Amino acid sequence: MAILSTEIRQQFIEFFKEKNHHFIRSSSVVPHEDPTLLFTNAGMNQFKPYFLDLEVPENKRAVNSQKCIRVSGKHNDLEEVGVDDYHHTFFEMLGNWSFGDYYKNEAIAWAWELLTKVWKLDKNRLWVTIFEDDDESGEVWKEVTDIAPDRILKFGHKDNFWEMGDTGPCGPCTEIHYFTGEDTSKQDASGVNVLPEYREIWNLVFIQYNRDEQGKLNDLNSKHVDTGAGFERLVAILNGKSSNYETDLFIPLLDKICDLTGKDLNFKEGIPHRVISDHLRMLAFSLADGAMPGNEGRGYVLRRVLRRAARFGRMLEMKTPFIYKLTSILVDIMGDAFPELKEKQSHIEKVIQAEESSFNETLDRGLEIYAKLSSSLSKGDSIAGEDAFRLYDTFGFPLDLTELLAREDGFTVNVDEFNTCMEKQKDRARSAGKFKLSLTEADWTLVGEESPTEFTGYNESKSDAKLIKYAKSDNNELELVLDRTPFYAESGGQIGDKGKITAENFCFSVFDVQKSGNEYIHFGRVEEGSIEKVNSVRAEIDADRRNNIRRNHTATHLLHQALRENLGEHVQQAGSLVAPDLLRFDLTHYEQISSPQLREIEAKVNDIILQNMNVETQIKSYEDAKSDGAMSLFGEKYEDSVRVINVPGFSMELCGGTHVKRTGDIGALRITSESAIAAGVRRITAVTGTAVHDLLNHQEGILAEVKSALKCAESEIPSHLKAMLEQRKLQEKQLQQFKQSSVSSLVGQLVSNAKEVGSLKLVIHEMDDPGDLRELGDQFRQAFKSNGVSLIGTVIKNKPMVMCAVTDDLTKIVQAGTIVKEVGAVMGGGGGGKPHIATAGGSDVTLLTEALSHGEKLIKNLVD
Ligand code: ALA
Repeated sequence: MAILSTEIRQQFIEFFKEKNHHFIRSSSVVPHEDPTLLFTNAGMNQFKPYFLDLEVPENKRAVNSQKCIRVSGKHNDLEEVGVDDYHHTFFEMLGNWSFGDYYKNEAIAWAWELLTKVWKLDKNRLWVTIFEDDDESGEVWKEVTDIAPDRILKFGHKDNFWEMGDTGPCGPCTEIHYFTGEDTSKQDASGVNVLPEYREIWNLVFIQYNRDEQGKLNDLNSKHVDTGAGFERLVAILNGKSSNYETDLFIPLLDKICDLTGKDLNFKEGIPHRVISDHLRMLAFSLADGAMPGNEGRGYVLRRVLRRAARFGRMLEMKTPFIYKLTSILVDIMGDAFPELKEKQSHIEKVIQAEESSFNETLDRGLEIYAKLSSSLSKGDSIAGEDAFRLYDTFGFPLDLTELLAREDGFTVNVDEFNTCMEKQKDRARSAGKFKLSLTEADWTLVGEESPTEFTGYNESKSDAKLIKYAKSDNNELELVLDRTPFYAESGGQIGDKGKITAENFCFSVFDVQKSGNEYIHFGRVEEGSIEKVNSVRAEIDADRRNNIRRNHTATHLLHQALRENLGEHVQQAGSLVAPDLLRFDLTHYEQISSPQLREIEAKVNDIILQNMNVETQIKSYEDAKSDGAMSLFGEKYEDSVRVINVPGFSMELCGGTHVKRTGDIGALRITSESAIAAGVRRITAVTGTAVHDLLNHQEGILAEVKSALKCAESEIPSHLKAMLEQRKLQEKQLQQFKQSSVSSLVGQLVSNAKEVGSLKLVIHEMDDPGDLRELGDQFRQAFKSNGVSLIGTVIKNKPMVMCAVTDDLTKIVQAGTIVKEVGAVMGGGGGGKPHIATAGGSDVTLLTEALSHGEKLIKNLVD
């Protein structure tokens, strides 16, 4: 009987819960808080601050199932995906942790117990690897388990020393592998870490170092355990399957792909099916956590994966978007364990469908180009970087897609050359560099005992507090930490409070507050006295400013809900700024929001404001809040107990921010702008409270100026302006006609006063910008009728220009094109044209006269 994946996940969690581990929800797969990572790539990512002693965990033991993505950076499995049946771009990592608590003995004993006693895996299929310098782990394996000693193997740094990235927590690890082959007698130690039948299922890492920017390993204060078991692989193995795709995690997706495409799993060995199902999971989970496809950084990774999936869709002869249709199947499989999938389903579908459609437009053309350029290559040849770049730049083929096509045909791609082309195209500069910050420690002077900062600012605007520590920065500014504070630290879009921290003979003005772990850091300047003797302080926020922030924050919630009601459930908050003077709200939506829609949305919010509804704050468990229907935000990390802001019957959001007591306190809301900030993301700005009044005053002032300038009543402004614009159009037309006729009369005059050169008539003249030069030439030709040449100089937009016109009977003798070419050269430029009419431009205005006289000489020489 098959064991369901949901049971296996639960059994893992329960096993460790029984051993006093606290269950922690998976963190967002988009690590909004860690700039060194594009995607969460291991269960331990969210615990990094615990390992580095930057934060103290509430519990020293934890268990979870973490959503992970490995498509870029140090851990990157993309190429294997679909070709084999056990690597994925997205996977779940089951893990148990000790933060400075138990170590090797328990970690190893429990892993063995779960695998061999609870899940009853055959010990004769299990192999264990340890780091070559870590004899201790080898001893522990022999002591606390009954594994056969010859099944414990030593490996080097590459296999048995785990690092999160180029920097960060790391340490030796011991891995557990499972032989999936049919015949157990055919096992051999030499297959481990080499052959695919020996599947790595669980990695136990003993975190004891932090690798710094210089690559040096520094000892951590405590030793920790970080383990990661591949969920999909366990589900396969526990069901006697060697392929992860033959489990309930994938079967419904693969079935649906077969249904939609009419191609069964024998088609192309099922590779396209596997790739698409894998990539869909990666896309759905990253979109659910707030990533969006784009041209840089994380967004580009999404786009690459989606385009790769679309290309495999083409192998299944699918010409129209279909990948998005798999979302509902994924929601059925995983929506209970990860409710964000359910919540964001329509958003996920819309984004995938839009991306599929836009790529479909260039995919065929790109594939044709690829086929053409590869037809002249033989196996082993390399595709020129320039060609790969063209596929990228014109047809939207990510480099790895071209590499994939090349690999399938036995070619390589000249990546260096591609990169050179890429660098040349500067405006496509990628943001990867942005993801390279590191957590730094300020140089603190400790005054009191360190503890998490207590936030008093939900109820108080001033609080008495004790100074805990301070750090001085170069420009006479300070950073302070207090034991308690009414100052809100920037988070969830709401900006930090400003205000004052005072003591006897001491005054410090605060201009920003930020959270670091569970401490609130006040940034500011000493206005009076010196920090050295300070101990007890009074912290007081700028209450007016905070009230404006409150209005904007509650209004943001109302706006969010009104947008969803008006535009649809796909609307998600993609970012927000809650400041005292305005609110800015970014939302996922695919087209411009029209003015009438904006007015409706605004009216809805104002209606709720006028109803003066209670704004309730409740503290609940995360589970209760979610089942009550509270909205959570993309990628936000929530504790077990959460704060819910509820406007009964209208809006309910998880939020740590500060809010008004009743909606009426907001006063009013006015939307001030709507614009696009990225594909599928719109931005709305709005003002509330007194700012609406200020806005009206400002607009009133502008109106008053317009009224006085137009000398009319307000209601007459539109008709006055319309009449003025029409009049202006008419005048411009008249001016143009006037110019034309004055040019014509000038032409007539010049022709009748033309010089006689031999038998022809010649006009050489400089004039003000005559408009279209060719038209001018025609006028001369008509005025001359025959036997005439004109060479006219003028200045247009600060550049010297010449025009030469020749009547048809003379073009055998004088060619306008040849003349202007030489004349243009004199002015530092060039030009050309037909024998009867030609123009040239130059760069130096002062050379115009000289150029004309050179032209005159040329023409005279031709006639003589
Ligand atoms: N952090 C370890 C891994 O990702 C468990 O393999």
